[in-house]
Amino acid sequence: MTTPENTTPCPEHRGLPAGRMPELRMMPAPSDANVYGDVFGGWIMSQVDIAGSLPATRRANGRVATISVNSFVFKNPVFVGDLLSFYADIVKVGNTSITVNVEVYAERNRLQACTVKVTEATLTYVATDSDRKPRKVPPLETLLA
Ligand SMILES: CC(C)(COP(=O)(O)OP(=O)(O)OC[C@H]1O[C@@H](n2cnc3c(N)ncnc32)[C@H](O)[C@@H]1OP(=O)(O)O)[C@@H](O)C(=O)NCCC(=O)NCCS
Repeated sequence: MTTPENTTPCPEHRGLPAGRMPELRMMPAPSDANVYGDVFGGWIMSQVDIAGSLPATRRANGRVATISVNSFVFKNPVFVGDLLSFYADIVKVGNTSITVNVEVYAERNRLQACTVKVTEATLTYVATDSDRKPRKVPPLETLLA
């Protein structure tokens, strides 16, 4: 099993993005590992989908459905026990769709302060009504009112 205690030296360390709040923080468990002991890509993808849906849901002021994973890059492996921070930013708002960029950082070897960017993805969500049909994203002014 690969754990934070026996990983290779830190490939980069720039700390977490300054002045930004992660949408989600998670720590993968042994049950999230693949047969090699690293964290299963599908587990990471599902957390990224959840993290991206949070700002999309707020912007849509209601339910959204994921229509597309536009890009997904696993830049570095994720290990059991890494503390993952998911940052999500809306990059485009269409008529019914909202596209979100998600960046994931792992804090590993935490006593030695090692932070690694592990994943970057872009996903598109569609605002949906109670019949699961697309609905217009409300104007921003109506949300701030
Ligand atoms: C989401 C859903 C309701 C959209 O309905 P649809 O009839 O396919 O959507 P439309 O063709 O009207 O397109 C809706 C929006 O998605 C965008 N879109 C469609 N296909 C897309 C694609 N491959 N990539 C990115 N955006 C896409 C359209 O451009 C449109 O955006 P806009 O209104 O801002 O211009 C429907 O596709 C669906 O139910 N999909 C399954 C969702 C799901 O189960 N997700 C997994 C669990 S959440």
